[in-house]
Amino acid sequence: MTILVTGGAGFIGANFLYWELREHPEDRLVCVDALTYAGNLRSLEKAMKAENFRFVKADICDRKAIFDLFEEEKPDIVVNFAAETHVDRSVENPGVFLQTNILGTQTLMDACRRYGTKRFHQVATDEVYGDLPLDRPDLFFTEETPIHASSPYSASKAGADLLVMAYARTFGLPVSITRCSNNYGPYQFPEKLIPLMISRAMSDQPLPVYGTGENVRDWLYVDDHCAAIDLVMRKGREGEVYNVGGHNERTNLEVVKTILRALDKPESLITFVKDRPGHDRRYAIDPEKIHRELGWLPQTAFDQGIQATIRWYLDNKGWWEEILAGDYQQYYQRMYGNR
Ligand code: NAD
Ligand code: TYD
Repeated sequence: MTILVTGGAGFIGANFLYWELREHPEDRLVCVDALTYAGNLRSLEKAMKAENFRFVKADICDRKAIFDLFEEEKPDIVVNFAAETHVDRSVENPGVFLQTNILGTQTLMDACRRYGTKRFHQVATDEVYGDLPLDRPDLFFTEETPIHASSPYSASKAGADLLVMAYARTFGLPVSITRCSNNYGPYQFPEKLIPLMISRAMSDQPLPVYGTGENVRDWLYVDDHCAAIDLVMRKGREGEVYNVGGHNERTNLEVVKTILRALDKPESLITFVKDRPGHDRRYAIDPEKIHRELGWLPQTAFDQGIQATIRWYLDNKGWWEEILAGDYQQYYQRMYGNR
């Protein structure tokens, strides 16, 4: 089988490619990535050595490039990771989020229709459900929870999900969607909470916690997400949405303190900064459907996954130091300078 993976030079896409190379060496993998600020070819260095792997630099919104690639490769499955993904950047500049996340998804699905792709799998997020109150720990997102996005990022991902379901109904496109909670693990760009805090704590820099740090996220180790996507794209029912999450809820402050403890750094590094506008309070997934239908369960407890992640950032300083040395400095100054 040929599997076309978009956004594979990003965090989850890269981990997914390694997962597939390991678990399904019989398949051919074609990675398409525009190499935006978030895409890093260094993350794919080991994959580049595999004979059944091909990298193509292209924008998923570039209809000609995408159709030409489909003509050449005739993929059996398309997995769409490519997206603008950082909520704070979507507050700064929403336009590119609508472009890539919605129109890019449309371009890929048009190509799937033309070339008879057997499955288009959309990698979606639990953020499309909006947020849950902090004082109702009994509430979880199910696949029936209404779409209710808060940020331009989540609205663009929700728009893409609606379009995917519309292509299924109108054109009979064989689709599936996974909506996952927050991921963490190797190769995550150090603008997101966990790698940002690890890299800053390692250099004894202040750790910017938004608001009071009481917001809750449901953390999933990236390999558990890869396993879920692999199962759904191969065995999940067509036209279905599957929530993916592992009941690993933590407040941001708990996460930051865990990182500080693991690195033996003082809590005095924590700095409370102005809250993110529209900041979602709590995300929490009910993964009952994917468990019941496909037997998926997360394999990595948070305490184990966070230690492995911290170890990876300690062992791969070159990977993230290179990022922090580039344009990222200007971004950090813009985002956090006046907070
Ligand atoms: P990321 O920002 O690390 O990587 C995104 C990748 O997409 C980058 O390699 C980038 O170069 C590429 N890209 C961006 N625009 C493109 C375009 N127009 N054409 C081609 N490539 C383009 O993102 P991530 O955290 O790995 O997330 C991957 C997917 O998973 C996204 O769709 C995201 O919404 C979803 N998701 C992420 C999380 C999370 O916690 N990170 C949770 C649930 C769902
Ligand atoms: P993030 O990693 O951006 O993921 P998302 O907003 O998509 O869930 O942020 C995770 C949580 O951490 C979120 O509640 C915002 C918070 N946060 C901070 O407190 N400080 C930071 O510098 C960042 C980037 C995030």
